[in-house]
Amino acid sequence: MVLESEALISIFDNAVMLGDTVTESTRIFSHRPFKLDRLYKSLKVTRIDPGCDAQQMMRITLDVLDANRSWMLQADDCWLVHDISRGRSIAGADPTIQRSQATVMIFTQPLDLLSWARFYEVGCHAVTAMSRIIPPQSLDARIKNRSRMAYTLAEIEVKLVDPQAQGIILDVHGFVAENKGGNIFAITNGTLRTPRSTNCMEGVSRDTVLELAQQLAIPIAEADLLPYDLYTADELFFTSTPYCVMPATKFNGLPVGDGKIGPITRKLLAAWSELVGVDIAAQALNQLHRPTVDF
Ligand SMILES: Cc1ncc(COP(=O)(O)O)c(C=O)c1O
Repeated sequence: MVLESEALISIFDNAVMLGDTVTESTRIFSHRPFKLDRLYKSLKVTRIDPGCDAQQMMRITLDVLDANRSWMLQADDCWLVHDISRGRSIAGADPTIQRSQATVMIFTQPLDLLSWARFYEVGCHAVTAMSRIIPPQSLDARIKNRSRMAYTLAEIEVKLVDPQAQGIILDVHGFVAENKGGNIFAITNGTLRTPRSTNCMEGVSRDTVLELAQQLAIPIAEADLLPYDLYTADELFFTSTPYCVMPATKFNGLPVGDGKIGPITRKLLAAWSELVGVDIAAQALNQLHRPTVDF
């Protein structure tokens, strides 16, 4: 276990050379545990051998959390991030040959919610990127990985329209896919709809919202959504590990519904807050109104 300032990886690591890295981000609500299932699915499909099974990985991860306990208790909540690359490579050589053990990086860090906090009050502006998502026939979005160039370029296009906007990336057929780090939900006539997992990552937060909606008897559907469906939706929101549910009140310059955060979005956020025993919106808004703490 080393301090961030002392952590070193080789400049020849596959993480740097090829972005050949599987990743997982978990939010630790009130410092409670997390799951590693998706990480192990990504490792299997990418054929990266992390050198330990899920149980051992869990033990190492708990050690990382333990080593950080002193400051974690002062933080609202934390990210827990796993990055696992295929280890060292040789420039230009066969990238499929694993020349060292996998590089396993695990860190935890206070959750910085500042860039999303005000959206819990007013909603964000969702804007479609010009670039399209990488088709699942090329790279299945369910493999959570660190090759993020496509997402970053799409987000740059979105910020050209509005520097505060949150991106919506379409697939090659023009259907709504996902955000650079989140999933998308639209509510129309009381039904909650989200893109199918053939063109988006199966977000843990997406699953949570689908489960909560079922419990609240809100009809749900995985569907092919076109931008038209978002323009005409009554409510729109994103889901992702750090912010859970982020309402969107504007889509490509037009108000979504009446331009205010809708009742079903609020209901789902309240149900999630109840589930984890944390007022998710209040926690983020609280960060806006207090000085930054250095850990
Ligand atoms: C491309 C992409 N889509 C969706 C998500 C949302 O997944 P989760 O809810 O597990 O954070 C992420 C999370 O990082 C992501 O990178």
